[in-house]
Amino acid sequence: MFEEAQYFAPTATRDDGTIEVELAKSHPGFADPVYRARRNAIAALAVSHVPGSPIPTAEYTDQEHEVWALVSEALAIKHRKYATAEYLEATERLRLPAERIPQLQEVGDLLEPLTGFRYLPAAGLVPLRDFYGVLADGLFHSTQYIRHHSTPLYTPEPDVIHEVIGHANALASDRYSRLYRLAGDAARRVESKQALEFISKIFWFTLEFGVMTDQGDLRAYGAGILSSYGEIEEFRGMDIRPLDLVAMGTTHYDITKYQNVLFRAESLEHLEDVVGGFWATCDDEIIAKMVADVR
Ligand SMILES: [Fe+2]
Repeated sequence: MFEEAQYFAPTATRDDGTIEVELAKSHPGFADPVYRARRNAIAALAVSHVPGSPIPTAEYTDQEHEVWALVSEALAIKHRKYATAEYLEATERLRLPAERIPQLQEVGDLLEPLTGFRYLPAAGLVPLRDFYGVLADGLFHSTQYIRHHSTPLYTPEPDVIHEVIGHANALASDRYSRLYRLAGDAARRVESKQALEFISKIFWFTLEFGVMTDQGDLRAYGAGILSSYGEIEEFRGMDIRPLDLVAMGTTHYDITKYQNVLFRAESLEHLEDVVGGFWATCDDEIIAKMVADVR
């Protein structure tokens, strides 16, 4: 999931207790009352979910399944060229359905035997501390809706394609899933907002938008790139910088555009050493000093 508040359509509870998702005018589904009703119904499922109980089933329409099938096939072709070997192996382990949207409960059932991760439904934005904290417990907050059918290869928000094709495939890898857990451990360990944001920015530039040298090429392992049909063709032409904790933790990013600054790990071991090692040991004091040093 993307972590920034402005990325998510806000949800509001109406006087009668029903949930309304407030789409921006520029959203491809803004003027489609059927889509708006779908979004409201799916958000209500997440709100009704009781932790520890099965995730409510979203009854997707044929049209929604068709969007998934189209994007899933298009991305799988791109992944062969642009995704890391570790990610591709993980997709083989997970074997997500290609022709229909899997339920989040089902995604957890596939993932848990592999790496222990399960999914939690989210209606929209999850506060940073909750989103990251539960990664330490092997839980991943995920939206359940799918993008509007008029723009199958584009979404302004993180939808189920991003959450599942992007993240669940990575979470099926022992090594990537360990990094997600370490990010969760780090988020639980720190108290200051500054430290939490620093950790979340490093997550953004690695597990969301990370690239690395792999098979002699620049390949992506970040869920944000690997779930974006447009971005996956562009990342090799971006401003690629060496992996640098302070730079990642303090670089501003614009979530409404393609990421034009990306950070490259030299290998998966390098990523684990630098970022995994940092998340395993960082605390408020260490992060405050790192931030202070750049000012
Ligand atoms: Fe994400």
